[in-house]
Amino acid sequence: MEEYKFGKTTKQMDVRTLESPLRATFVLTRSDIERLKQRVMDRPDPAQKPFRCSTFSVACRYAWVCFIKARRYVEDRTVYFSFAVDCRTRVDQPIPDLYFGNCIAGVFANASGRDLGGKDGLATASEAISGAVEGLREGVLKGADKWIPSYAALANERIVTVAGSPRFRVYDTDFGPRKTEVVSIDRTGATYIGNCRDEEGGMEIGLVIPTSEMSAFSSFFNDELLNA
Ligand SMILES: *[C@@H]1O[C@H](CO)[C@@H](O)[C@H](O)[C@H]1NC(C)=O
Repeated sequence: MEEYKFGKTTKQMDVRTLESPLRATFVLTRSDIERLKQRVMDRPDPAQKPFRCSTFSVACRYAWVCFIKARRYVEDRTVYFSFAVDCRTRVDQPIPDLYFGNCIAGVFANASGRDLGGKDGLATASEAISGAVEGLREGVLKGADKWIPSYAALANERIVTVAGSPRFRVYDTDFGPRKTEVVSIDRTGATYIGNCRDEEGGMEIGLVIPTSEMSAFSSFFNDELLNA
């Protein structure tokens, strides 16, 4: 247990300890990403408007779908996905480029576990994540006074949370790391998504999950790509 202080209140935050954790990094190469984007953009119904699809967001959609399947959350129950967005350009009074500090908000998407694990899982994930990002137009700080209690309420739900960002460009640091990891994810349960060391346009997805789930995740990850 760790203590986090928010203003006047002090709240305990549960951190997990896994029975037999395994840490792994999965790589989406640039060509994997291109194929996934294509699959997301070729919508079965041409009347539907195409999804916007950044490299980061396609990695998120894919990780979410593989997670849902590996965890066997494929049932008619709401599952969640959350990641941070940079608010600097999204607030009413834009913040100068030289501002050095955090200015982020959480984005929460939700969908039915059954739909995400189904044949059109990637489209379902896209619908949910694009919808949540669209929602930011209403004001990135909307409802900020309720963020803390609503985050706390989601802690007991089936949620995938992203740690990291490809914008951090961790491999560009001048000491040239061979491998980067977000070490806290074994306790926070988050999923790391960042850029790839070996290839511009590729993505790394880092996980710490029980050994028993890792092989399922790995096989979904690889199978789905073959069919992409
Ligand atoms: C699910 O997402 C939609 C669209 O962003 C939102 O209107 C709805 O309140 C969310 N539902 C839950 C249970 O979080």
